[in-house]
Amino acid sequence: MLNTNSIPLDKLIVEGIFPLVGGNFAKAGEASIHLKQKLTELGLNEDIVRRAAIVTFEAEMNVIIYAVAGWLHYYVTPRQIKIIVQDMGHGIENIELALQEGYSTAPPWVKEMGWGSGMGLPNMKRTSDEFKIDSVVGEGTTVEMIIYLNNVKAQNK
Ligand SMILES: Nc1ncnc2c1ncn2[C@@H]1O[C@H](COP(=O)(O)OP(=O)(O)OP(=O)(O)O)[C@@H](O)[C@H]1O
Ligand SMILES: [Mg+2]
Repeated sequence: MLNTNSIPLDKLIVEGIFPLVGGNFAKAGEASIHLKQKLTELGLNEDIVRRAAIVTFEAEMNVIIYAVAGWLHYYVTPRQIKIIVQDMGHGIENIELALQEGYSTAPPWVKEMGWGSGMGLPNMKRTSDEFKIDSVVGEGTTVEMIIYLNNVKAQNK
């Protein structure tokens, strides 16, 4: 169990990196399952682990669907879980539009697989405590999400 009382709030407890490959639907979910296992091993509460897995899965799917390749990076401190999903790909031209519920450029074959409802980015934003997205057309996209660990959030509010 992670005893957050005796450790400095910004001390890195666990960090990791996991590769993502565009188009590799067979491996969809592996990055989020990896992170979920790491967080569960730390004894973090179920709701926190669930939220981290949801946002990571959505970001991971976007790399698989829209990008060439990418990485999941995660950093856990007693204060928070930081999740960064960075890719090389065509990027997002209009981020404001991409963040709107229901906006999707997924091709029909992706929609047939059940993806492409335009809900991933809004879900990531809603489910994380801090959400940032940066994209450069022709280069790639980076999504950074932070989930506060319960006790710390309570202290800071
Ligand atoms: N990593 C990315 N690289 C390039 N474009 C992206 C990326 N992530 C999202 N987009 C663009 O933003 C749009 C909205 O993304 P979002 O995740 O909200 O919905 P979706 O992936 O289309 O559908 P869903 O997530 O519901 O399966 C995508 O359709 C795509 O055009
Ligand atoms: Mg998506």
